[in-house]
Amino acid sequence: MSLVCEGLTKIYAGNPVPALNSVSFTLPTRGVFVLIGRNGSGKTTLVRILATNLEATAGTATLNGIDVMSEPDQIRERIAIVPQEARPIPWMTPLQSVLSYLLWRGLSYTEAKQKACEVLDRLKFGKKARALNRTLSGGMKRKVLMAMIISTEAEIIFLDEPTTGLDPISRREFWEVLQEIRKDRFVVLTTHYMQEAEQLADTIGVLDEG
Ligand SMILES: Nc1ncnc2c1ncn2[C@@H]1O[C@H](COP(=O)(O)OP(=O)(O)O)[C@@H](O)[C@H]1O
Ligand SMILES: [Mg+2]
Repeated sequence: MSLVCEGLTKIYAGNPVPALNSVSFTLPTRGVFVLIGRNGSGKTTLVRILATNLEATAGTATLNGIDVMSEPDQIRERIAIVPQEARPIPWMTPLQSVLSYLLWRGLSYTEAKQKACEVLDRLKFGKKARALNRTLSGGMKRKVLMAMIISTEAEIIFLDEPTTGLDPISRREFWEVLQEIRKDRFVVLTTHYMQEAEQLADTIGVLDEG
């Protein structure tokens, strides 16, 4: 099973400089793939294309044999993504966030409730599972998003700069959660921290000027 990109190119309207300039690579879809690069190097663009949120200008990408461009629905069933700027809905609780995400992904209420409680337990939310998201710390807010994707059956997880701006302790907590996720799924994680790439990655990709 592999992730294959061939000549992936993205040129945004009104921006003549390609955000991705013919990116090609093949790698096995297990463990953690860390995509490292400075701001503006094209990390988010690549992740959004692979997660079917953005159309490439040219090139192809397949995830475990499924074409990202021509079979987006098949891809969507198999992935979960935490976008770079994502935050949990402030007026919901972590429990409501995970529960509604699972309902939205098609689970029955009973099943969703059980899974939501289970994952929040596993991530040691305790009483915070029923506190409003807006009252949680920055690190906990990200943990809510992690809980949402861990609770799914998705075999491929995209995390776009999950630790940018986190304090060192929250970052360490995130790394622990990641160990949990990587056991049985393929994780694509972007970062601009070298240390993170060295510590977490099974495979490292460097992106520079697309
Ligand atoms: N919607 C857009 N329109 C025009 N240019 C964009 C758009 N989104 C990103 N870019 C440009 O594409 C390049 C890559 O951006 P991005 O993928 O967000 O990089 P990274 O995630 O590595 O910071 C940057 O030069 C950025 O300015
Ligand atoms: Mg980005």
